[in-house]
Amino acid sequence: MEKLEQVYEGKAKKVFKTENPDYVIVSYKDDATAFNGLKKGTIEGKGVINNLMSNKLFEYLEKNGVNTHFVETIDNRDTVVKHVEIVPLEVIVRNVAAGSFSKRLGVEEGTPFDQPTVEFSYKNDDLGDPLINDSFALALKLATQEEIDQIKSMALKVNELLKDLFLECNIKLIDFKLEFGRFHGQIILADEISPDTCRLWDKETNEKLDKDRFRRDMGNVEGAYAEVRRRLGF
Ligand code: C5P
Repeated sequence: MEKLEQVYEGKAKKVFKTENPDYVIVSYKDDATAFNGLKKGTIEGKGVINNLMSNKLFEYLEKNGVNTHFVETIDNRDTVVKHVEIVPLEVIVRNVAAGSFSKRLGVEEGTPFDQPTVEFSYKNDDLGDPLINDSFALALKLATQEEIDQIKSMALKVNELLKDLFLECNIKLIDFKLEFGRFHGQIILADEISPDTCRLWDKETNEKLDKDRFRRDMGNVEGAYAEVRRRLGF
């Protein structure tokens, strides 16, 4: 399948039309941003890792009954995915306190939860992706109640499946962000799952193996992404 005209360029990806209206090609870049675009940089080789890792995880999730947008890998940076209408919600699942949860609620980073939390942000750069709840999502007509229920239960299922997979690689899945889309009326998992969108800590040492190294100027960002790649074996 070939790339036709570019339809979108985001912070970390470009999207191209294909000859089939049901499919688009996503192309992963090395550009990195944080804090709603305030911090900008490049993580050498990130596009390759995020592309191949997302595809590996989407294949694993598909095998375990989660419908995703993944169709086929073209090469290291490019992948054919289903052309979805993105639901403008950032769906965040947390197993352990970190990041904005710790900051807003005064809970020490690393404090585990008895059960996972699910939260929504309204995907809107101008507003800074504000935290919202189900009734706000309904009021804003972002999704129907049925879609919201389905998104939550899919997000929790993804969490259980990914927690197991990462633990086999000696990695704790602290939290992550998912996006969903509509494809022929059905809700499917879209976007990416990568060290950009997950917090991944070494099981023994709690060393951060994710984008927090970039956000917090911790150094060895490329090394951390490469380590996740090595452990997952792709
Ligand atoms: O910053 P916060 O603690 O809310 O992030 C929770 C999780 O969601 C982290 O794994 C982070 O990488 C991810 N996230 C993301 N994109 C955003 C916001 C958060 O991938 N715009």
